[in-house]
Amino acid sequence: MFTTTNNILLGKVLNEHKLVDSTNDQAKLLLSKSKPVEGTVIIAHHQQRGKGQYGNVWAAAPGENLTFSIILYPKFIAAASQFALSQAVALGIRDALQPYVNEVAYIKWPNDILVAGKKVCGILIENSLQGSSLSDSVVGIGINVNQTDFNCLPHASSLKVLTDRQYDLNQVLHRVLGCMEGYYLQLLANRAEQVRAAYLQHLYLLNQPATFEADGHTFEGTIRGIDTNGRLLLEGADGITAYGVKEVALVSSDIKA
Ligand code: BTN
Repeated sequence: MFTTTNNILLGKVLNEHKLVDSTNDQAKLLLSKSKPVEGTVIIAHHQQRGKGQYGNVWAAAPGENLTFSIILYPKFIAAASQFALSQAVALGIRDALQPYVNEVAYIKWPNDILVAGKKVCGILIENSLQGSSLSDSVVGIGINVNQTDFNCLPHASSLKVLTDRQYDLNQVLHRVLGCMEGYYLQLLANRAEQVRAAYLQHLYLLNQPATFEADGHTFEGTIRGIDTNGRLLLEGADGITAYGVKEVALVSSDIKA
């Protein structure tokens, strides 16, 4: 069902599975046994134990969505700058999905893709370090494509829910891999600053007041940017504070994305 791409790196080799626990775990298993070609894609029609961020489960209806992982060797990225990879991945997916939908596709920090205020894609990157650099990365991506039943997930949506159309999963995959490769090659060409600027351009709620929660209290704040470690720079009553991923959550905003 899925085909390889003509890209320079991403998707030139593709391992397709009907059923796996998690494509990220399958990719890590492959890495433990061999040295897969950079850009190898492991894709599954059905994941039994899809992994989400922060130990959550990633649930996706079998055969209706994209659930895949990409193996990369970003040795040129310093461990301290690993958020650059997250930015490149999120940007590639955002750009790939934008033409399908009528509303603006945003990146919600750190790397969810939101359309009309709902999540259509989640990203789970698992990096291994060697010394002070990345050695290999498993970039796990779940994109909600043709699924329409999100009863248990009120904040989730899909391309089909948004546009009332059915999509060819292989075409969506190819578009995503093509766009993502563009940003990955920018990082490889030492253009992390351009990638960072593009990420900010598409960041959900940048410079828009919203309600956040941190340390058990709720406050009004405004996102002013991201620091080089990928922390969210949030301006509150006491000035700008940098928050790591588990340290702050968006509660609400007046913006209809
Ligand atoms: C999130 O919680 O937003 C991240 C979700 C990541 C899901 C994808 S689906 C393919 C890959 N394999 C996994 O087990 N997880 C990622």
